Parts: sequence; structure tokens; C-alpha cells
Amino acid sequence: MTHPVPAAPMKAAWIERYGPPQAITVRETAMPVMGPSDVLIRTRASTVSLPDCAFRSADPFIVRFFAGLLRPKAPIPGGAVAGEVVAAGQEVTRFSVGDRVFGTTEPNPSAMAQYVALAEDAPLAIMPDALDFGEAAGLTYSFLTAMPFLRDEAKLQPGQSILINGAAGSIGTVAVQLARHMGAEVTAVCSARNADLVSSLGADTIIDRHTSDFTNVEAAYDVIFDAVGKSSFSACRRALKPGGIYLTTTPSFAILWAMLTGRDKQGKRGKLATTGLRPLPDKARDMLLLSELVAEGKLHGVIDRVMPLEAIAEAHRYVEQETKAGDVIIEMP
Ligand SMILES: NC(=O)c1ccc[n+]([C@@H]2O[C@H](COP(=O)([O-])OP(=O)(O)OC[C@H]3O[C@@H](n4cnc5c(N)ncnc54)[C@H](OP(=O)(O)O)[C@@H]3O)[C@@H](O)[C@H]2O)c1
Repeated sequence: MTHPVPAAPMKAAWIERYGPPQAITVRETAMPVMGPSDVLIRTRASTVSLPDCAFRSADPFIVRFFAGLLRPKAPIPGGAVAGEVVAAGQEVTRFSVGDRVFGTTEPNPSAMAQYVALAEDAPLAIMPDALDFGEAAGLTYSFLTAMPFLRDEAKLQPGQSILINGAAGSIGTVAVQLARHMGAEVTAVCSARNADLVSSLGADTIIDRHTSDFTNVEAAYDVIFDAVGKSSFSACRRALKPGGIYLTTTPSFAILWAMLTGRDKQGKRGKLATTGLRPLPDKARDMLLLSELVAEGKLHGVIDRVMPLEAIAEAHRYVEQETKAGDVIIEMP
């Protein structure tokens, strides 16, 4: 069976030069070239995340070392993709035309387009029936970030206590569900407007970040996961139990110094992890795990809003405000 695949062209988001949200436009471009072990996916949904905004604006400057010094090497942005397989190379065995799939094009952005070509051994999995395309794209970004933090870095155990800062964000909403699934006692930090949402995801205790300082406790948590990277190890140290770990998603000299110096006298330590740089086979295994957890009803996506591809600049502007709860989804035409 084959699906009709247009010869050319396709619509895609496009970043010619680094800049503010209006630097991202929509244009027609050539279809991706497929190899014998690739599948061609008709994209139905992708996401806009804070890292996408950082790669669009080249802020922080360090992204230029990965994405292109003077201008983006890959003009089509986006990592997370959910859609249908419309063609499969002759060596492909894992997927068939018509499969609903989700995954990531990382480390090469290209997902914000009507069609995406991906190797069959890329981080790509069949979507469980329970998922729609928007949820699938959102979960891909947030699960591939949150899971390695909790499982591989925190080594979270049943009965341990974890505090999650930024619990209403993309990564936070998945981290709360995963921590609960792992049997931990979950304290979540968010604004009052998001308290009901975060409670419904399984948080045992909610702290309103506008009225309370979550660091103002002593030896309360085995793990502090700062999903939005707004605090610091030094501010959180007192709130950690002896032997506890502070994990953050964002780099700073302070956290790099904490990693260099290692554990303090009470065995407390701080760590930054870079989940985007994990080996592709590890991410591919985690896509299968994500599929299983969703099929078992252990995890679901949280969608803030769905926007059309034509509103991509507006979506970037909105995500940069850092007020979204869950994911911003872009639907492909
Ligand atoms: N290290 C890595 O490998 C890696 C990978 C991916 C992403 N990241 C980084 O992870 C970070 C978080 O991403 P995300 O996608 O989860 O964020 P997000 O979805 O944009 O988070 C938005 C939420 O954060 C909360 N928030 C905003 N300002 C806050 C503050 N000052 N303190 C506490 N919470 C605040 C708000 O909820 P409330 O108002 O309810 O609190 C808001 O709803 C980004 O900096 C991104 O670059 C790192």
C-alpha cells in the first residue's frame, strides 16, 4: 500500500538568520531526500519549546557552536514529530506505510515541515492508540528530557521525596507523572493558577511559588529537580537531605563548579544533565518505553494550545513568555 506523496514542494518553517520570533517564516521548500533505510513521515504535529526559541535566537551564544556560527546550518527548526508513514525505503523492516509514529529528528532539526525523513533506527516508535498527534509530539520532547533526569541522574526510588520546580511546564508536567509512577513522594512548585492541573497529574503537595519560598526548609528532599532551571544548588542545598541531589536543566558557572567540586560534607551534590546530547540508541529505547507507559495509562500529554504552522512566529513569541502550562503544539497543514 502506498499513500500519495507529492513530488514537491512542501511547506516548512524556516530560519534564514538568527533573530527574534519574526525571524521565523513559512516557505515552500524541497521534499526531504529518503535513503533505503528511511521512512518518510507526513507530519501532523510538532512542538515549540524553549530550546527551539534558543536555537532561533542563538541565545545563549553557545548554540551557534552546535547550530551554525553565523546562520543556522539547518534552516528548518523543530525536533519532535508525530505523523503517518507515507513511504518506506526498501531496507525498512520496523515500519510500514500507514503507521502512526512519533519521535525526534534530533540532533538534526527538521521536524517543523509537512514531511520528514527519518532512519528507521532513529528515536521513532509506533504511537499508542490512546494518543493524538499533538500529545504525541509534546510527550516526545518532555519525556526524552524528564525521564533521564529522574531515572539515570536522580536514580529515583520508591518512597523517596522529590521536589519539582517548574512543575507546570512541559518537562515538569511529565516529571510529576513519572516521579509518581516511580513511587516517590512528590512536591510540586508552580503558580496557583496551575495548582489543580499539577495536582491532577499526581503531585502530593503543591507549593505556590509566588507566596512561598520552597528552599526555606531543612533536609526535606532526596531530590530537587529544577525542570525550568530558575533556582540554584546553593539556594537549594539546605532543603536537600544528606546525600541528596539537586538537578537542573540549565547551564550556569555555579552548577558547573558544583559538578567539579563534587559532594559536600553531607554528601549533597548538584548536577546539570544534557539530555539532548544522549546517544540516539538510548533515545530510541526511551521512545519504546514512552509508548508502553502511555499504552498502560501511566502518562499523558498536557497541551496548553494548538496553533497552525502559519502562526509559528506567534507560537515562538508565546513560548518565550514562559507562562505556558504543558506543550504548545503546531499542527501541519
Ligand atoms: N538540559 C537539557 O538537556 C534540556 C533539554 C530540554 C530543555 N531544557 C531546558 O529546560 C527548561 C524548561 O523547559 P520547559 O519546556 O519545561 O519549560 P516551559 O514549558 O516553558 O515552562 C513554563 C512554566 O514554567 C513555570 N515558570 C516560569 N517561570 C518560573 C520561575 N521563575 N520559577 C519557577 N517556575 C517558573 C511557569 O509555571 P508556573 O507559573 O505555574 O510556575 C510556566 O508555566 C528550559 O530552560 C530549557 O532550555 C534543557
